[in-house]
Amino acid sequence: MISYALWSEAGGVGKTALAVNLAAAHQRHGQRTLLIDLDPQNGGASHHLGVDDDRADPDVDNIVRHLIDRPKGEFADLVRTTTHGLDVVPSHNMLDSLETNLQRAQEMERDMGGRFVKELQLRRVLRDANLSQTYDAVVIDPPATGGQHVYNAVSATSNVVIPLELSPKGEQSLRGLEDTVSNLEAELDSEVGVVAVVPNKVRRTRMRDKYEEALEDVSYPVAPVQIPVREAMLNGAWDEQTTAYEYVANHGRPQRERETLELFDELARFIAAQFDVDLSEADIAEEEREVVA
Ligand SMILES: Nc1ncnc2c1ncn2[C@@H]1O[C@H](COP(=O)(O)OP(=O)(O)OP(=O)(O)O)[C@@H](O)[C@H]1O
Ligand SMILES: [Mg+2]
Repeated sequence: MISYALWSEAGGVGKTALAVNLAAAHQRHGQRTLLIDLDPQNGGASHHLGVDDDRADPDVDNIVRHLIDRPKGEFADLVRTTTHGLDVVPSHNMLDSLETNLQRAQEMERDMGGRFVKELQLRRVLRDANLSQTYDAVVIDPPATGGQHVYNAVSATSNVVIPLELSPKGEQSLRGLEDTVSNLEAELDSEVGVVAVVPNKVRRTRMRDKYEEALEDVSYPVAPVQIPVREAMLNGAWDEQTTAYEYVANHGRPQRERETLELFDELARFIAAQFDVDLSEADIAEEEREVVA
């Protein structure tokens, strides 16, 4: 099973936009895909896909109850299927107090002589849910700020995809990337695989030349594509609470946007290849392929 978290210490670099559209890209290639929204912010991936209507209801079962080992039901029942067939575990307001909730659960467990490692709870939940029997790809979207959301997302998958803006600030992050990843590994006391570094919001196609040296110095796999600035498409998809593919398909959008969707497809194939999963364009159903034609 392919599984990874979108990860960046910088906010607003496109984690959520990539999580949503990469999940859609995996699904287009015939992979049964689950997107998990771990971001407590209102307006994350599950809002993007129109499945966050229960987030303020304190009584519903939600991912946090599973993380603290007090579930109200099965993990599978947390999953909402969007109108386009993408499975999503939505965000919930309880994620706001995830740290406190985990802390409390840890203390209770300790009082009973048990062991409860806060960082490893999503890993436990996903393992117990036997996800690899139901899904071919799991994509997790945590918030940018460090702490238990990120730790749980990364521990659960052991792999990250890192979006990065090719700007002077982005170049700085690129140069410090190995240290940042090492810090995360130290924090988690385990190895983290960087599956892809993805240049996003690229303004000019020659941007890569400008940052070529910094990109070449990176010891991680750099994605073979750069995602250009596509505000109209991404904002349009956001407004309509759908994926960019669906938005473009519904509105007969310009060629450059179709080409960007092909980049998401290619990126999904590149990521899959890092897991030794061979996806090809031919895996995309004919009618789905027409979206980018
Ligand atoms: N390639 C792109 N072109 C234009 N706008 C983009 C692109 N990628 C993301 N954006 C926009 O940038 C904003 C931030 O993106 P997004 O929410 O995906 O970032 P994030 O890393 O998830 O942020 P946060 O750290 O708050 O979770 C959004 O308005 C999004 O539509
Ligand atoms: Mg986000």
